[in-house]
Amino acid sequence: MSPSTSSPTPLDGDHRDADTLRVGVIGLGYAGTTHLESFRSLPGIEVVALAGKERERLELLSAQHGIAHTYADGDELIARDDLDIVSIATPNVLHDRLAVTALEGGKHVFCEKPLAVTAEGAQAMIDAATRAGRVLDAAFNHRRRADVQWVADYLRTEGIGRIYHARASWKRRSGIPGLRSWFTSLELAGGGALIDLGPHVIDTLLHLLGEPRVRTVSAVTHGELGRAGYGAMDRVDQMTSGADFGVEDLAAALLRLEDGASVALEISWAGHTVDDEDISIELLGVDGGVRLFIPRYKGEDTIRVFRDRAGTALTLAPDVRVAGGEHPVVIAEFVETVRAQREGRPVRDEAEHHRRLLERVRIIDACYRSAAQGQEVVV
Ligand SMILES: NC(=O)c1ccc[n+]([C@@H]2O[C@H](COP(=O)([O-])OP(=O)(O)OC[C@H]3O[C@@H](n4cnc5c(N)ncnc54)[C@H](O)[C@@H]3O)[C@@H](O)[C@H]2O)c1
Repeated sequence: MSPSTSSPTPLDGDHRDADTLRVGVIGLGYAGTTHLESFRSLPGIEVVALAGKERERLELLSAQHGIAHTYADGDELIARDDLDIVSIATPNVLHDRLAVTALEGGKHVFCEKPLAVTAEGAQAMIDAATRAGRVLDAAFNHRRRADVQWVADYLRTEGIGRIYHARASWKRRSGIPGLRSWFTSLELAGGGALIDLGPHVIDTLLHLLGEPRVRTVSAVTHGELGRAGYGAMDRVDQMTSGADFGVEDLAAALLRLEDGASVALEISWAGHTVDDEDISIELLGVDGGVRLFIPRYKGEDTIRVFRDRAGTALTLAPDVRVAGGEHPVVIAEFVETVRAQREGRPVRDEAEHHRRLLERVRIIDACYRSAAQGQEVVV
């Protein structure tokens, strides 16, 4: 197997040590670079291979991080027989195929969100992981924010009574990631704002609600702004043709949960409105409420708790600070799961973990189906 782009002299990473996990990272953008740096920050890990299409960036990153083997194509990296882990940070549509190939080749897989663009794709990944007895995980880093964890702990210890409704959103005023990028190609991304930002919101919400099953969804999608040439994150693109814009810039849905609770979901990349960029999760319980409001990735003063004490309305504002760096935490957890699995001391119920991974993709899948059919659908 010869590297397809460059072949630097093999570095120390080529000397195998039984306890060291050897990693190959696919993708050189924000996500791939974060994976690379996160793996490199952990003990007992060597990133030995890197793949991506941008030749200069590939050379730069491999030189910076001392990576011996570089490839222009992810399949060539996966074909190496000396990797324990493959980390996938490519356009969405490639996730399932690359992951299945890696899992079938005996590698553990860490994959960016969305896990796959369809529920069938996600199921194929899960089946391959189960057959191979390898770990499959997704990059749900937002859920590891300290404020999300604080709310999860508060719900567990104090509780707010039965949660009967939630409002969950991620909204931007001008945040389409390039009007003509792969993010706005239905073929490469599998959808728009919903499949891009929705996985984090849905993951955080389901985590806080205790992993309920969603029974039905009724969704709408709109792509008017992008098609009209508005709303690009990079304002240089503003008002250029949106002719190639093939996805939605806004999705809204009503989710009915199996316990009778409901969720109003709204995800949008762009809108002529005051919102600049904010993530919001509001939980309404019989005995209290919680609102997590994160404008522009703010790291403090993001939580409000609402209670009623003998007829007096109380609002609490806990002092919780978000340190950042959630990707390394997720990747460290993934590595720990891989080690535990190799040593025969499982740290989690894999079947339940797979169910949760699949549920997130099935909800997004159902939203797109509902929007296309113009009616409520069963998840
Ligand atoms: N978890 C998060 O917070 C987060 C943040 C940003 C992006 N993401 C996800 O990460 C993924 C990548 O997003 P990005 O913003 O880094 O995109 P990007 O366009 O910046 O990078 C994509 C990379 O994939 C590479 N690539 C494409 N096809 C390939 C192939 N066949 N073989 C090898 N490499 C290939 C490209 O060369 C590029 O380096 C997406 O799925 C996105 O949803 C997640």
